[in-house]
Amino acid sequence: MAIFDTEIAIFLIPRVMSEELFKKITSHAKEYGFIFPSSEIYDGLSAVYDYGPQGTLLKNNIKDYWWKAMVQLHENIVGLDAAILMHPRVWKASGHVDAFHDPLIDNKDSKKRYRADQLVEDQIAKWEAKIDKEVKKARKRFGDAFDPRKFLEESPRIQKYRQLVEETRRRLNEALAANDLKSLKDLIDELEIADPVSGSRNWTDVKQFNLMFDTRLGAVSDASAKIYLRPETAQGIFVNFNNVLKTSRVKIPFGIAQIGKAFRNEIVARQFIFRMREFEQMEMQFFVRPGTEKEWFAYWKEERMRWHLSLGFDPSLYRFHDHEQLAHYADAATDIEFKFPFGFKELEGIHSRTDFDLRSHEEHSGKKLRYYDPETRESYIPYVIETSIGVDRMFLAVLSASYTEETLEDGSQRVVLKIPAVLAPVKVAVLPLLKKDGLPEIARDIFDELKWDFMAAYDEKDAIGRRYRRQDAIGTPYAVTVDHQTKEDGTVTVRDRDTMAQYRVRIEELKTDLQRKLHLKTWLGSPS
Ligand code: GAP
Repeated sequence: MAIFDTEIAIFLIPRVMSEELFKKITSHAKEYGFIFPSSEIYDGLSAVYDYGPQGTLLKNNIKDYWWKAMVQLHENIVGLDAAILMHPRVWKASGHVDAFHDPLIDNKDSKKRYRADQLVEDQIAKWEAKIDKEVKKARKRFGDAFDPRKFLEESPRIQKYRQLVEETRRRLNEALAANDLKSLKDLIDELEIADPVSGSRNWTDVKQFNLMFDTRLGAVSDASAKIYLRPETAQGIFVNFNNVLKTSRVKIPFGIAQIGKAFRNEIVARQFIFRMREFEQMEMQFFVRPGTEKEWFAYWKEERMRWHLSLGFDPSLYRFHDHEQLAHYADAATDIEFKFPFGFKELEGIHSRTDFDLRSHEEHSGKKLRYYDPETRESYIPYVIETSIGVDRMFLAVLSASYTEETLEDGSQRVVLKIPAVLAPVKVAVLPLLKKDGLPEIARDIFDELKWDFMAAYDEKDAIGRRYRRQDAIGTPYAVTVDHQTKEDGTVTVRDRDTMAQYRVRIEELKTDLQRKLHLKTWLGSPS
């Protein structure tokens, strides 16, 4: 955790501003048809969301960009679409029945339920905010002469907060690693953590809460019919290892990629689509020869970061966070963190999972899950490097990084979503300058031609400025305008959403011009 370098100060300073920004992003997402609360006419369902007309397009484009980067551009990665419902023994073998839980605590007065570790994390965040406040004050006091690193090291007040943060984090990690719920409760009591809603310190003991949703298969009501909604897509890949091996011509090292829904009964689901109870994952399991996992872990770390950076957002929005404390099955793990409006948080996980999953499924199913290597003439259980990213979290990252408010030269304001063109819901809007003089007819013809290749929109209502604003608000990267010159020389203007610069192009060249701008190769370059 880089909590004591100057970076944290930078992201904590605009906390209030960021909260405001986050509110604006969520209401923009609703107003322009990206995301709606689920079952809204019944007051919504907590941490479950629906995607609207623009949101569906953006979400599909994100999935497509990932799928093509992983499956189409890697000869040795194949796809899979496994069922959400799986045999219950899968989750015993994977460890989810026994270990996929979060520590839960109830407040006896408010009757509110919390994640015990989150309460401690929130307390740590408060101290970090205090450190940040001190830095801000000192910066104001010392002006240009201010040296943040020196100040962080020397200020006695900051030293006190640092110690609290360090000591509390150490105790929290130890308690979580040892599954020591009593120590966790002691920590909450000692720190005098109060219920954020009622201020009460009247807590129950901490207990474990399994995050898997269960349901029943068929009409049988005994315990054997209990099944789960999958909490991750990964296990569908492991249990199909032999099927894929037999039916495709893959050779180690190779990967199996999958996009699909996952479900987790999160105790506290906050921050819009960041933590949901029903969400979608894009996961890839890469099977390698034991002993080569370190080099493949390094490869996928770099490759996945390259994918994120290919979208062209500011590189300072991303960072790696290597895990110090590893899950029992992992020998290395890192997160790609993204700077959301509420701070740096996990966007994607890259895990070196050893042979844990295949070995455990071998033991539980009694079926061999091995690879025969014709070169070495050995049969072995492969090691696995996993890349796992949430579609919805990626959606939120794109939305947050794209949302921009600008004051234009004439003093007017615009809200523009600077969504990378390759992901934008609508790629091109075709607009007749006026609703007369034969301009709409020409514009319609252009739209009817472009729609075969691109998600296009036609709009002739309102003044041209208002139409540009409407397209800016949903992130349409290009607007084609048909004006009187079009009738004279067969050219139209193409307006760039971000720069608002316009250039003329012949109608016949429009398609090729847009194809070049939106081509996968323009964005992802040549795969390594
Ligand atoms: N198979 C490994 C796995 O599931 P994870 O770190 O639990 O690992 C992987 O989840 C990714 O799935 C996360 O990095 C995040 O993007 C997404 N994710 C996890 N829980 C989520 C939730 N409740 N809501 C939205 N996205 C979630």
